[in-house]
Amino acid sequence: MGYKARFRVWRGDDADGDLHDYTVEVNEGEVVLDVIHRLQATQAPDLAVRWNCKAGKCGSCSAEINGRPRLLCMTRMSTFTEAEIVTVTPMRTFPVIRDLVTDVSYNYQKAREVPAFRPPEDLAPGEYRMQQIDVQRSQEFRKCIECFLCQNTCHVVRDHEDNKTNFSGPRFLMRIAELDMHPLDTHDNRAQEAKEDHGLGFCNITKCCTEVCPEHIKITDNALIPLKERVADRSYDPLMRLFRKPKK
Ligand code: SF4
Ligand code: SF4
Ligand code: FES
Repeated sequence: MGYKARFRVWRGDDADGDLHDYTVEVNEGEVVLDVIHRLQATQAPDLAVRWNCKAGKCGSCSAEINGRPRLLCMTRMSTFTEAEIVTVTPMRTFPVIRDLVTDVSYNYQKAREVPAFRPPEDLAPGEYRMQQIDVQRSQEFRKCIECFLCQNTCHVVRDHEDNKTNFSGPRFLMRIAELDMHPLDTHDNRAQEAKEDHGLGFCNITKCCTEVCPEHIKITDNALIPLKERVADRSYDPLMRLFRKPKK
């Protein structure tokens, strides 16, 4: 059964903008992105929104709905009561290009700063062999759709723009953790680099990143905390230090 919903949508760019009110039709089974598309079709043809798959897989339609970071295409209208005003705003942590579209290039920059997987030199692709348990461990992290909702939510950069230079954010610390756990990766100081070059120490394991991940990846428990433990092991464990000494 259809109804008329009240939407409040942020319109503008990085310099100026405000919330605009709309009343728009909603049909049974629809998601917020459907309603945004109906707004474009009927009342606001110039409303900018980024999307591609409408299936929760491309990571393009990230925004904030009633203040909560979410994918527009995976948020059902049945989440809200018919009387509720649904407020849609762009991700707060990144500069707004227009309306709901943000400039997420911070994330691409941080991605480039993580050294790529470095396999053993004597193995060709196709010759890699790993234990199933090692495959399973990284498979969780490979579910990432790069929506950057975790990056948007982490208070280290959300509330402190200056930290963007020194903090790579949960998505890329997770990538480093994944590579550090990879038995065939020969880049041997990833955990230390996470601390020194990617700001792992800024993370105080609040788990806010984990709460908003649409792929339900346990970013904090399975990636960030183990990475911190590896840094601590290698830096402070006297046995590990003894073990390392002959190598110096
Ligand atoms: S757990 Fe760490 S990375 Fe995740 S939101 Fe909290 S401070 Fe940021
Ligand atoms: S880890 Fe989750 S929240 Fe972060 S970018 Fe990947 S899918 Fe999105
Ligand atoms: S449109 Fe692809 S994740 Fe929403």
